[in-house]
Amino acid sequence: MKTAYVTAACAGIALSALALATPAAAQNANPQLLTVSCSGCHGPAGRSPGAMPSLYGRTSASIATALRDFRDGKKPSTVMVRFAKGYTDAEIDAVAQEISSNWK
Ligand code: HEC
Repeated sequence: MKTAYVTAACAGIALSALALATPAAAQNANPQLLTVSCSGCHGPAGRSPGAMPSLYGRTSASIATALRDFRDGKKPSTVMVRFAKGYTDAEIDAVAQEISSNWK
């Protein structure tokens, strides 16, 4: 039984890693960790240096709605659909809250 549990746990970790590309964040719902990957494209504290949209100064509701719409295919996207699919509803809310509160 223990082996089966460990195998299942490992499969879960592998799937989470594929979905998020940030395995540590997948295992830990710490909002700061969940938003580390976002800065890679959207810039430090959401201040984009280039073509990506900036995220600072947005309300948590607008960020959460955008992430759900990307995930559900309601908002056209190239990469965000892939990211958004890796997050649960609770994680989307945590990410949106973190960005709106701390990315000024
Ligand atoms: C690989 C680069 C990349 C990463 C990483 C990334 N994004 Fe994005 N994001 C984009 C691009 C590109 C767009 C424009 C829509 C599209 O083509 O997917 C976008 C659009 C958005 C938008 C909509 C902005 C607007 O004004 O319409 C939000 C909100 C957003 N991203 C949030 C996030 C959050 C939160 C994370 C971290 C969980 C994240 N992004 C990680 C590239 C990225």
